[in-house]
Amino acid sequence: MRVIALMNQKGGVGKTTTTVNLGACLAELGKKVCLIDLDPQAHLTINYGLEPSPELLSLYDMLVDDRSFLETLHRIDKHVALIPSSIDLAAAEVELVSILGREMLLKKKLEAAQHDFDFILLDCPPSLGLLTINALATAGEVIIPMQPHFLALQGVGKLLETVSLVSRRMNPKLKVSGIVLTMFDATTKLSNEVVNDLNGFIEGAKGKNLPWSEARVFKTKIRRNIKLAESPSFGQTILAYEPQSNGAVDYRALAKEVVEAAPIAVQSTVSVKLSSVDPAKLAAAKVGAKASPVKPSTQAVA
Ligand SMILES: Nc1ncnc2c1ncn2[C@@H]1O[C@H](COP(=O)(O)OP(=O)(O)OP(=O)(O)O)[C@@H](O)[C@H]1O
Ligand SMILES: [Mg+2]
Repeated sequence: MRVIALMNQKGGVGKTTTTVNLGACLAELGKKVCLIDLDPQAHLTINYGLEPSPELLSLYDMLVDDRSFLETLHRIDKHVALIPSSIDLAAAEVELVSILGREMLLKKKLEAAQHDFDFILLDCPPSLGLLTINALATAGEVIIPMQPHFLALQGVGKLLETVSLVSRRMNPKLKVSGIVLTMFDATTKLSNEVVNDLNGFIEGAKGKNLPWSEARVFKTKIRRNIKLAESPSFGQTILAYEPQSNGAVDYRALAKEVVEAAPIAVQSTVSVKLSSVDPAKLAAAKVGAKASPVKPSTQAVA
């Protein structure tokens, strides 16, 4: 099982879009995927057609109210399950301030669960706070979605410093497996310059004992595609919304690359237990949690 944190403290770079659609494309390849929404904005949750509400058991209930992994897990279809977020999660950092080991709460919950996922994808919020630290303490890998902007590398130093800190103090197996460029426009000189800069940066880390010394810039670049911006408002992934779009083509290619690029050293610290998640048991385990699909809206997001 690979546990991957999609992380970048910069907002709006495509973390959630990548989690949603990489997840859907991994599922299309027959992989069993669990998505965890660590962002109080709950965009991942909404994008998968769930409506955050007090009745929907969420990550907040898991971390703050000690609910189990299975209680908060919602099955989307045969291959995909999701742990939703809720706006309450914004208060979790404060509410957990006196809890010993609060950085390891998610990891402990996952360890105690019986699950047989091939991939767990963690959609991080745009900050380096407690929720992101929980994701890094749990993950075996980090994928950094990044827009090819001027100063794209600015902020990456802080991000890698955090990864390094968690890797030294809590999770020595943590590795950055790659950077994925999002909203990419191959025709601009700037995009290609950013790719060169990133390649140079990664090349410089090769052979050093750093969490990113085996990282790559994924060959697949996610092109800017309006369908990717529209699909969340219909509570759909790009595969359901527009399966022939460039967005679908790119995320399918990225999923293949991620599967093929399984790093040798990347093994999540979460133990794998092979009993499968039985949807019936799952439903029974959920107390009063009803997942109602978001009503399709005609409003485009961007
Ligand atoms: N390849 C793309 N083409 C066009 N629009 C995109 C693409 N990727 C993402 N978007 C849009 O850009 C916006 C930001 O994307 P997204 O929400 O995935 O970023 P994020 O990093 O998760 O943001 P946050 O930091 O707020 O969590 C969204 O409106 C999304 O629909
Ligand atoms: Mg997001």
